[in-house]
Amino acid sequence: MLDLLLKNATLPDGRRDMSVAIQGEKIVEVAPGLTAPAHEVIDAQGLLLAPPFVDAHFHMDATLSYGLPRVNQSGTLLEGIALWGELKPSLTLEAITERALTYCDWAVGKGLLAIRSHVDTSDPRLLAVQALLEVKKRIAPYIDLQLVAFPQDGLLRAGGGGAPGARGGVDNLKRALDLGVDVVGGIPHFERTMAEGAQSVKLLCEIAAERGLLVDMHCDESDDPLSRHVESLAFEAQRLGLHGRVTGSHLTSMHSMDNYYVSKLLGLMSEAQLSVISNPCVNITLQGRHDTYPKRRGLTRVPELLACGLDVAFGQDDMMDPWYSLGCADMLDVASMGLHVAQMTSQAAMRQCFEMITTVPARIMKLEGYGLEAGCNADFVLLQARDPVEAIRLRAARLKVFRRGKLIASTPAATASLNLPGRPLQTSWMNA
Ligand code: FE2
Repeated sequence: MLDLLLKNATLPDGRRDMSVAIQGEKIVEVAPGLTAPAHEVIDAQGLLLAPPFVDAHFHMDATLSYGLPRVNQSGTLLEGIALWGELKPSLTLEAITERALTYCDWAVGKGLLAIRSHVDTSDPRLLAVQALLEVKKRIAPYIDLQLVAFPQDGLLRAGGGGAPGARGGVDNLKRALDLGVDVVGGIPHFERTMAEGAQSVKLLCEIAAERGLLVDMHCDESDDPLSRHVESLAFEAQRLGLHGRVTGSHLTSMHSMDNYYVSKLLGLMSEAQLSVISNPCVNITLQGRHDTYPKRRGLTRVPELLACGLDVAFGQDDMMDPWYSLGCADMLDVASMGLHVAQMTSQAAMRQCFEMITTVPARIMKLEGYGLEAGCNADFVLLQARDPVEAIRLRAARLKVFRRGKLIASTPAATASLNLPGRPLQTSWMNA
């Protein structure tokens, strides 16, 4: 007998009246109209059953610190970095851990069950690294957390030069990796010069190649049309044979680059099989701040990157921290912003936006057992929507969230009870 049978579900690829059979922690069958006996049967009533949401770009060490010690006045990336620097000396292991755990509670409620978080390695004490490694252990039963060693103050700019015993950027990053941080990060556009930025990309990719790790670098997060670190990233990925293992995050300068140059760059990125993570809520907030009018949107060229066959995901980046004052762990909100800013308004493009917060980031993170197929982990979300486009439009309620076959969160359906003159009494949830 099955442990659980979900029937009458719509899947993200459009298949209707589908059943999903669960035994233990795994999906054992996905087929139309299954009738096998089960301890528990759930009728999805034609609603959308999706794999969990995945956020492949986040900063869990900074989340929920909004207003500490003050608010970002200019709204720029650089003031955000300065503000985080002001906060760092007063951070404690307990405070970082507590805020991260609170955020993860919110994430589960929103069906967000896999997160790649950058963790600042610039502090020689590696306080944030220790805190998030502990958080990773504690949330493992309900969230897959992948950590990226992120030299926020600049790998080379932070000093040390990698000399043994010097607690500089390179040394701190390597110690974080030794402690178990999964992925190599970077921030070349924050190094002192373009040349040092390129050198940092080279060093970091070599560290990843030596250790057999993935790379996910903050890259060209500015409106500078001449910021070209993604070119170096593609070159190093290709040179070191890291094809399909390197991600460029943000790439906002591509928005402002010369079109001819981009036509060449896209080929280099394809050759290296780079993945891209665009963070629409934060990019549209932080970029364009030095413009008068017209103001640039500061989003990388998402449709063009997709047209080249690259994996492009949407990430959340920040929530209530020095860089972004809003957010609620809702990846549908992120997809909606990306859809609007990138003008991905065809039916096919809107469905693609849903994949960019589910299957694509799962592929970038190389998650095992992810998906709605026999043999995958029994992790999924039942949404109050009939298809992925409606889910984005309504920021649909996550009626039920399952992890390894167990219900771990539920939310009541969002309905309005209407009592209007000349209209029948009714409840409505905007499903046109
Ligand atoms: Fe980021």
